[in-house]
Amino acid sequence: MDGQSNCTTISPASWELSAASESAEQKWYKPILSVHSDAFGNKHVYKAFRFSRGLLGRYFLFLASHEFNMLKRVEHLDFTPDQISRGSDNLPTIKYRLIEGTPIKGIAGKNRIPEGFFSALFNDVRVLHQNGVVHMDLGNSGNILVSQEGRPIIIDFGSAVPLNRLPSGVRSWALKKDLLGVLKLWQRFDSESLPPSLLRYFHRNYRKNIYTPKRFFKAVRKQLNKNEARLDGSGLTTVISLFIGLLVLVSLA
Ligand SMILES: Nc1ncnc2c1ncn2[C@@H]1O[C@H](COP(=O)(O)OP(=O)(O)OP(=O)(O)O)[C@@H](O)[C@H]1O
Ligand SMILES: [Mg+2]
Repeated sequence: MDGQSNCTTISPASWELSAASESAEQKWYKPILSVHSDAFGNKHVYKAFRFSRGLLGRYFLFLASHEFNMLKRVEHLDFTPDQISRGSDNLPTIKYRLIEGTPIKGIAGKNRIPEGFFSALFNDVRVLHQNGVVHMDLGNSGNILVSQEGRPIIIDFGSAVPLNRLPSGVRSWALKKDLLGVLKLWQRFDSESLPPSLLRYFHRNYRKNIYTPKRFFKAVRKQLNKNEARLDGSGLTTVISLFIGLLVLVSLA
């Protein structure tokens, strides 16, 4: 990979990315993430898709260049990765400075969430929007890191969109989707600090996304199970009413 020849690869086993990289290796469409450090000890994350040729290669090149462009728009913010670059325009790879942190999904137990973490994240997302970018995948707990100082860091701008490209109706839906993504994580990981007004807003507006095949089938299965239970229930009601009816007939005879 271009730009990596002077870098020393850090064994992923010694770093938080290891688990993510191992599982990502099983899926061909997921990028491989690795951390490299240069001669001065500066560490960078390399995100590389597997294919660079053919139709699939073109698609991954597009993904890499899209994420690069989105990151470039927001790299000056203090909660996003900076020093963004691409190894080469012909490779589906991006590189950015490593911010040492732990994905929020890796933080077990509520009491390890730093105080004020989610309200800071909520404000950061508003700042992101003021800078013209909507993230679109904030409900994914792998995309929010807790930095070593306990600050939120937003990564993975692969699904991000420039706000000015969206028609106004879609724009307000996208802004809302980002805020609801944060609220989803807030209530999951630190519900006690979630203000009641935001919790109400969340319950009123959050709809689970079923537009992925896996989630869609899960939702269908759940619905079928519900219907089965309802059928069972109505069967039981029929048997009971028949039984009572028979009792009445027998007592009248
Ligand atoms: N600086 C970092 N510190 C710790 N972990 C990181 C860092 N950067 C990335 N990761 C881990 O690598 C995972 C994958 O990174 P990223 O989200 O950019 O890739 P992706 O494959 O596009 O994600 P997704 O799984 O959402 O499709 C993250 O969910 C996170 O667990
Ligand atoms: Mg991600």
